[in-house]
Amino acid sequence: MVKLQTGLVCAGCAQGKYMVKAKGFFLAVLRWGDAEGPLDGWGPFAYVPIDPAGNGTFYFSGRRAIPREATHVWAHCVNYDFSAAEDGCAEIPERFLNTAAPDPSAMRFSVLTDLHLSGKPWRITQALKATESDTLFLLGDATNDGLPDQFSLFQACIRDSVPEKVIFPVPGNHDITHPRFNLPGTAAYGGFQETLLSKAAEKGYTVDRRESSLAYAVRVGRADVIGLQCVTEGRKFLFPEGKEPLGWLEARLDSFPDAARHIILCHAPLLNHNPHRNEGAPYLNRDKELQAILDRHTNILFLSGHTHVSPNLPRGSADWDAERNNIYLDCGSAVETDTGGGQELMAPDWQDGVVTELAVSGDAVEISMRSVKTGVRFPRAYYRFSRSDPMKTWTSAAHCR
Ligand SMILES: [Fe+2]
Repeated sequence: MVKLQTGLVCAGCAQGKYMVKAKGFFLAVLRWGDAEGPLDGWGPFAYVPIDPAGNGTFYFSGRRAIPREATHVWAHCVNYDFSAAEDGCAEIPERFLNTAAPDPSAMRFSVLTDLHLSGKPWRITQALKATESDTLFLLGDATNDGLPDQFSLFQACIRDSVPEKVIFPVPGNHDITHPRFNLPGTAAYGGFQETLLSKAAEKGYTVDRRESSLAYAVRVGRADVIGLQCVTEGRKFLFPEGKEPLGWLEARLDSFPDAARHIILCHAPLLNHNPHRNEGAPYLNRDKELQAILDRHTNILFLSGHTHVSPNLPRGSADWDAERNNIYLDCGSAVETDTGGGQELMAPDWQDGVVTELAVSGDAVEISMRSVKTGVRFPRAYYRFSRSDPMKTWTSAAHCR
């Protein structure tokens, strides 16, 4: 008989301990569900080995959220030769359910990053079609080699699949390879960005472009969106401001204190909020300066890509600075993600490319990621951070990291 117990620690949060008792079984697959069974459209969140005594334990970390529809956790257990299977479930205690109502006035954004177009436009079209919102952020490395032909092909993919969407891009290190690609008569990243921003302007957005770089800022509803250029020719992670500090960024953040959210688009993550952070050196040459600016402000949503790290890894891909209500999200990649040869059991689709969907309001940010290929939602990539959230009080608690 399969028995399941949960040891959750905070309302609406998946953080905690999941204990399976299944004598004679070998493996338990954990999923969110209701009284009837697992939720449709959501993949499993853990594969838990069962020891010979019949016990298995999974610790869910990284502050993921519990889906609103979930009232139960389901365990599907199989024996060692997969000849027998049995299901069990546990009700989620009422005080831990996610009862936060969806905010109908929340702003919706889709995010794609690291598409690396070289010669397979169908992969780009598939990813673009997988996005749900009318507004799309492209976080860089749209192309693999930064060639004018690749950007022309990318534009054709947009025209074919999502012609009506408003798209705000930033460059990645693969997009800017040599200055000659942006000479008059050619159209590489510079032309690509200008075409997309001009289209946004035609739709009524006022885009404030920097003269000294490809950075820009634009009000989108109650959000202020700031696109950074953090790379220069030769695939270098350099802000092109020379010795100038990033004062313009700080000035922009100060200009709109009323923004419901400052959304910063930057190809690479900051050192302190990088899923690879334990490996040391920062990507960005102005990592500390940029972090210090963000730490002087509140209500920031910092979106990055570049790492290709799968959001399904245990540590997760979102950090929340609850004191400032600043969120840092690494968005994986639209091509196959990196599970880093993980040490645990993993589903094959945890390497799939991902599309990220955001619901942003003044109080809360809801983040969900799905497989570009199948549309299945990843429970390990579902977050909800809210100023009124009791999780806020846990910032210093070790078990909440
Ligand atoms: Fe990159």
